[in-house]
Amino acid sequence: MGRSTADPRMRQFVDSLLSQMTLEEKIGQLNLVSVGFDVTGPVVSENVDENIRKGNVGGVFNTYTPVAARKLQEFAVNNTRLKIPLLFGYDVIHGHRTIFPIPLGLSTSWDMDAIERSARIAAEEASADGLNWVFSPMVDIARDARWGRIAEGAGEDPYLGSQVARAMVEGYQGNDLTQYNTVMACVKHFALYGAAEAGRDYNTVDMSMNRMFNEYLPPYKAAIDAGAGSVMTSFNEINGVPATGNRWLFTELLRDQWGFDGMVVTDYTAINEMIAHGVGDEAHVGALALKAGVDMDMVGEVFLKHLKQAVAEGKVTEEEITTAARRILEAKYKLGLFEDPYKYADEQRAKTTIMKPEYRQAAREIARKSMVLLKNEKQVLPLKKTGTIALVGPLAKNQRDLIGNWSGAGDWKQAVSLEQGIRNVADSSIKINYAKGANITDDEQMIQRLNAHGGELQIDKRSSEQMIAEAVKVAKSSDVIVAVVGEAQGMTGEAASRADITLPGKQRELLMALKKTGKPLVVVLMNGRPLALAWEDENADAILETWFAGTEAGNAIADVLFGEYNPSGKLTATFPQVVGQIPLYYNHKNTGRPYNGQLLDKYKSRYMDVTNDPLYPFGYGLSYTTFNYSQPKLSKSTISPSESVEVTVNVQNTGNFDGEEVVQLYVQDVVGTITRPVKELKGFEKISLKKGESKTVTFTIEPEDLKFYNNDLDFVLEPGEFKVYVGTNSRDVKEASFTVTE
Ligand code: BGC
Repeated sequence: MGRSTADPRMRQFVDSLLSQMTLEEKIGQLNLVSVGFDVTGPVVSENVDENIRKGNVGGVFNTYTPVAARKLQEFAVNNTRLKIPLLFGYDVIHGHRTIFPIPLGLSTSWDMDAIERSARIAAEEASADGLNWVFSPMVDIARDARWGRIAEGAGEDPYLGSQVARAMVEGYQGNDLTQYNTVMACVKHFALYGAAEAGRDYNTVDMSMNRMFNEYLPPYKAAIDAGAGSVMTSFNEINGVPATGNRWLFTELLRDQWGFDGMVVTDYTAINEMIAHGVGDEAHVGALALKAGVDMDMVGEVFLKHLKQAVAEGKVTEEEITTAARRILEAKYKLGLFEDPYKYADEQRAKTTIMKPEYRQAAREIARKSMVLLKNEKQVLPLKKTGTIALVGPLAKNQRDLIGNWSGAGDWKQAVSLEQGIRNVADSSIKINYAKGANITDDEQMIQRLNAHGGELQIDKRSSEQMIAEAVKVAKSSDVIVAVVGEAQGMTGEAASRADITLPGKQRELLMALKKTGKPLVVVLMNGRPLALAWEDENADAILETWFAGTEAGNAIADVLFGEYNPSGKLTATFPQVVGQIPLYYNHKNTGRPYNGQLLDKYKSRYMDVTNDPLYPFGYGLSYTTFNYSQPKLSKSTISPSESVEVTVNVQNTGNFDGEEVVQLYVQDVVGTITRPVKELKGFEKISLKKGESKTVTFTIEPEDLKFYNNDLDFVLEPGEFKVYVGTNSRDVKEASFTVTE
């Protein structure tokens, strides 16, 4: 991928540069400062100009636009002794200016080409807008819907997560990082950030090595294998050692075992935070991080303050500092910054690139693909394009929340509301009766917190009784109710965990009142995490999960509601019945006393008050049409450990619409030297079938797919019986089995 560390010209160039650098200048390269408007932590970088002039800055983030970036780059190049250009980073997470669905939504498309295209477009826009480095992809496996950052990743599955990780890295970096329109990816947050206890952000992680290697590490590894140029540390500790000071993680695993040769940046002030973790004072944690294999200090300025002294005291060596500086200079070299520091700040290109109509069109297409139809009784959807719709709910006319969290350069005023989308897609004769019905939340403290961080939550001061009464009134005079409910975008993302994951505020009460009108009730959800929707599932006629679908949200949702697009998204994170079931995920272990559905069988692994079932399982999502699966057939019933086996299944579209289906393959290793999950995703294919059409899908299970890390961390294939499950989601599957001989 582009220029590798083995490139002799790069080696020569960087060697020669390093030989001219003082210790201070090398330390300066390790410093990343935030310049601009976005603050994602408690501290802001100060004295930036002075620091740049002194050669104390290796890169900046939170500044973009070609004009601003050029100005800063000129300042750095013209005012420093060695004229080393700066890196320009930014949280480009799900699009840069044209905003795509939040990452959890991108993943529910199960469409790797579309996901890669979203990252490609983000790179086109970002690189035209002064940036050369994006803090994405976020590949943390998350099994806890309370955690706000579940919105930022691809959900709970390591296999799917790995595919998404690769697609994103390839989309950002292309196959040549020196190109003007590619940007360096940054895989985050290394590692295991999504396993924070109780879903509370920044919380402790304690995990067995086999769980780590089998269930949490694969997506990071996939991103590294795809050539990601940089890695970001995570805020959490891992088994007693903060990730940012964890030498095992960054040196032994990432570099020595996985062969990563790029640069490592900390998360925001993560070195400083090791003091609160309780592993030493500022000078000590700075040395810890460097020795662990961290190269760049984001905002904390611990390296800047302490490393020189640390060399003098023998706590770190100059060689260790040189190594870190080398990796940063190499990143700049790989990006081509030494040839042309201004290649990412081209005003003309920005004008013709940013928010091109074709990008908006791509955003609309992927947004439609990401939507998950959770329920559709009596074919209430798709809606007729004529008649009268009661459009109700706090998110029905909303634009602010549609672009979701981490959309810093996105302009929410450009987002298409659902109301507008309906007008764009339905017949001009359609009548829309609108009522807000409820606020997203009425919790004063929550509102204050959301608005303090750019939420712009519009609160209707009327009483909830009044608002609900108005909604009921419009519902009564309409043919169908479309209730648009969910979360504010700021209720997910960083530092946005929720202990209660039902619909916030009075929104369920609103739905209850609407239900009583007897009119067909279509619930459109906008939210950033799996919600607990037991009541909604029982009472709504249809439920469409749309996440925060981005700039084209309203058009895309209307396309789905009116059948211009037949929904094909599938969940990538389990929806529980109630929050108390969490962590709830499909690839769990069986236990010694698995629950068997028998009411009076007491001594089973179960709850007194709820079954073990999810509300909606991993891989679940309906279509307007129906699909019939044949029994899966295997090419062989017995294979040797080096052979592969083919699984074929015939899928037929048996309903009344053309549609797409994600055909899913799961494998279970029935007996192991350590216990194995009840099933694990090992393949999927998204196919398109015309009404009545059928297709044969073939999966090849390779020996690699049957291997796992045992307790000695050997990656082994253990002979014996394997079950194969094929189906439309992780629960509704058909089964076959084969044996691997000794
Ligand atoms: C987040 C990162 C982000 C960084 C820079 C941190 O608070 O955890 O995901 O990339 O800020 O904005």
